[in-house]
Amino acid sequence: MIDLYSDTTTRPTAAMRRAMAEAPVGDEQRGYDPTTSALQERGAQMLGKEAAIFLVSATMANLIACRLHTRPGEAVILDAACHILNAEGGGLAVHSGLVPRIVMGDRGRFTPEQVREQIAGPGYYRPHTTLLACEQTHNLGGGAVWPLAQLEAVCAVAREARMKTHLDRARLFNASVASGVPAAAFAAPFDTVMICLSKGLGAPTGALLAGSAEAIARARGLKQLFGGSMRQSGVLAAAGLHALEHHISRLAEDHANARRLAAGLARIPGFSVEPVETNLVFVRVQESGFTAPELAARAREAGVDVSVSAPTRLRLVTHMDVSAADIERAIEVFHTIAGRGR
Ligand SMILES: Cc1ncc(COP(=O)(O)O)c(C=O)c1O
Repeated sequence: MIDLYSDTTTRPTAAMRRAMAEAPVGDEQRGYDPTTSALQERGAQMLGKEAAIFLVSATMANLIACRLHTRPGEAVILDAACHILNAEGGGLAVHSGLVPRIVMGDRGRFTPEQVREQIAGPGYYRPHTTLLACEQTHNLGGGAVWPLAQLEAVCAVAREARMKTHLDRARLFNASVASGVPAAAFAAPFDTVMICLSKGLGAPTGALLAGSAEAIARARGLKQLFGGSMRQSGVLAAAGLHALEHHISRLAEDHANARRLAAGLARIPGFSVEPVETNLVFVRVQESGFTAPELAARAREAGVDVSVSAPTRLRLVTHMDVSAADIERAIEVFHTIAGRGR
């Protein structure tokens, strides 16, 4: 099967498995796991923050960040299509009692004016807006990369209003490799930043939440509260350390494969390919005579797995387990399916 379903489907390489097997470990809950500590230090350093905490998933990192910066009944400003709002089980309401104040971004990116419009004025009718959350790269926004200046501008508006800021950077290094902007520069305007280790970076699980030493000390308590404390987590942290060391620069290959895939799919009548900036390729198929679920089912039968993002929108994701030859094969499969008709 050629797996273009998600970059979460990567499997640990032999070298990563060796690093996991050989990792020194201890009791993480008590702060005695040396490999977890090393990963946290490395992550904080790469992100230019004082401290970082290793968490089991990117979802947990986002949820802890929301809780860390707010009190129940307050409001978080975020994009309509962001992961925190659409794919975390309503956790921002359940775990933090937050009200979403939604902005309609352009491929997930919004402007300082849009943030200003959502900030609650004085008085007690509207919930206080205390957190701004951005997503980089933006998943449902098509893997779009926020320009650094735009992130700085929206955070400046939030800071003026004494709000906190959080960056969901599940695919942070894709953004850095695509734009040439260092990871720490993207992180600088934010109070907290999350990076996911199990997407394009290829670790089997895990994420880091980074911020000030004070914020991360409080996040430690929330990790316990959310049931996220671990024991010999060095086995998992070793995979994260290996990924940070060996799997960042190769993301450029995934981006090249995504562009190749987009160009091939764009030649299929009825397929409209959205602009590709990183490793996510979204295709609108309403003119093809097929629905997205129909195309995904036929592609799967032919050995290509892709995901359905909406009834007429497909998502195809490139990653380290997909080669340039796989891309050519996937393009052929879609040409055959769409050419054959219903
Ligand atoms: C932008 C973004 N944030 C957070 C997550 C959550 O990651 P996980 O499912 O590994 O917790 C995802 C997953 O796809 C994502 O795309």
